[in-house]
Amino acid sequence: MVSTRIAGVTSATYPWLPTKRRTSAHSCLPRPVHNLLAAVRAGGQVRMGAHMAQVAPEPVAAEQVAAGPARRRQTGVASTDVTLSAHVGANAEVFPSILALHVPPGGRVADVTWGKGAFWRKVPAGRYEVLATDLQTGVDCRDLPYPDGELDAVVLDPPYMEGLFRRDTGHLAGSGTHAAFRGRYSNGAATEHVDGAPRYHDAVLDLYLRAGAEAKRVLRNHGVLIVKCQDEVSANRQRLTHVELINAYAETGFYCKDLFVVVRPNRPVIARLLRQEHARKNHSYFLIFIKLDPAHPNRIRRPREPHPS
Ligand SMILES: C[S@@+](CC[C@H](N)C(=O)[O-])C[C@H]1O[C@@H](n2cnc3c(N)ncnc32)[C@H](O)[C@@H]1O
Repeated sequence: MVSTRIAGVTSATYPWLPTKRRTSAHSCLPRPVHNLLAAVRAGGQVRMGAHMAQVAPEPVAAEQVAAGPARRRQTGVASTDVTLSAHVGANAEVFPSILALHVPPGGRVADVTWGKGAFWRKVPAGRYEVLATDLQTGVDCRDLPYPDGELDAVVLDPPYMEGLFRRDTGHLAGSGTHAAFRGRYSNGAATEHVDGAPRYHDAVLDLYLRAGAEAKRVLRNHGVLIVKCQDEVSANRQRLTHVELINAYAETGFYCKDLFVVVRPNRPVIARLLRQEHARKNHSYFLIFIKLDPAHPNRIRRPREPHPS
């Protein structure tokens, strides 16, 4: 039996789960995602099936439950000037407002899959201390050059589709006239063959999970992990990557604080359509995770942070 106890995560973190499923031996994840997580922790590798998990509701702090329903305060002003969860446009148009809402100015932010730095094009220069790395610059997001608990935020946007994890470049997604696409979304290299290594969509998840574990190491408690991802149909099965990641990261001590949907403004063109079975995806996600303090896993914000009213 694989143990699923995560240091610092207690049953109170998941009060919506039946008691039996809150124990260390009963994860809320489907067994394949579960096994992959266990393997990531153990430094090994496991194949996954095509199960999907459900989105869990936000954890409720024990203090909030004890205090009962909050008293209504007659403060604040009516406004439509708020950050919204869904956007039609490019990542660069959405990203600054995500940072403004979730990362205090002056913070140390490591973008560990920098690519061409497109996310940062409209972020005012000097607002953050930005540490830019990528596999293309010799830094693997699964093995970062930062000490434990040092960073305020990490940005993670690895290749999100299984077609970018192939063993020879001829089979990589985005061949021929789509080479620019491949260059934008991956380092354009084939995936090294390792016996027993996860393949296809499981390879995508494996990278996200290992990079998530490394991000957790370098983040301070209540630091912010911003993850870009897109769902995909792999081997003709619907894989809701964002759901799989939210559940898997929750198991490792992250709280999913927010979710943004980005809808591309143009219609995708299908080169060789035979019969459509699934809706063509024209949206992706930014997921915002908070690294929980293992000593106080029910606290979703720093003790001295003001409660938004
Ligand atoms: C979707 S692109 C990132 C685009 C980037 N967010 C931007 O704004 O330009 C994915 C990037 O992940 C990088 N990558 C792939 N595997 C990686 C790894 N193991 N560690 C670090 N970077 C990796 C690729 O080189 C590629 O630049």
